[in-house]
Amino acid sequence: MQIAIISDIHANIEALTVVLADIKRRGIKDIVCLGDIIGYGPNPRECLLELMDCKAVTMGNHEEAVLYYGEDFNPKAREAIDWTRDQLNRSDCPKEENYDLWNFLGVMEQMIVTDEAMFVHASPRDPTKEYVTPDDTQKDREKLEEIFTHFERVCFIGHSHIPGIYTQELRYIDPKTIGGEYKLEEGRKALINTGAVGQPRDGDPRASYVTFDGATVRFHRLDYDFKATMEKIIKEERLPNYLADRLAVGR
Ligand SMILES: [Fe+2]
Repeated sequence: MQIAIISDIHANIEALTVVLADIKRRGIKDIVCLGDIIGYGPNPRECLLELMDCKAVTMGNHEEAVLYYGEDFNPKAREAIDWTRDQLNRSDCPKEENYDLWNFLGVMEQMIVTDEAMFVHASPRDPTKEYVTPDDTQKDREKLEEIFTHFERVCFIGHSHIPGIYTQELRYIDPKTIGGEYKLEEGRKALINTGAVGQPRDGDPRASYVTFDGATVRFHRLDYDFKATMEKIIKEERLPNYLADRLAVGR
């Protein structure tokens, strides 16, 4: 059975809509969401409502920041967090809906472990905060080695917004170099970053997500109307414009 794994939507409803339609078109019903549904983008309510029925959801650092105060965010990012929190408390929206949104944030898991895989927003060592990046395969191999001791076969992560495969030999594989398809090796572990739905940072502005059938991971990239998302961000005074600019370049 196939599942879809999505992460880092960042309140980008245009990207999320395109991704969900693609998942539906493939006949996949089970979606695991790795968090950061909100933060940075202009449509936090819409994205949360859309993902409430997901099979499973883990908490991202942006959900954590909205719930528990983001003291480790810089001032500009914190303003976006505060704006997001205000959106979830909007007095012109039904109170019940506001409760539902907050409850949804409150029940997100730190980490999900099934027979087939582990799912976590950032890293198995530090579920919402630790970044794993391609640089680590050169500069911090000890960190990667340690991370691989925390899961069995395959672990899906988001957080860095850079899609890719980290092999147990501590190699990073860019999905584009292998046609977007990676078959798990017998007896070898793999750490898979799904990339970001709503704010890619690998130089490709297209929305990113993966599907998994228990043996093979497939990376998908989809065009969406990022100009529409950019316009909304620019119109919203409390969201800094650089959050719009980066969507056009995928950085
Ligand atoms: Fe994120």
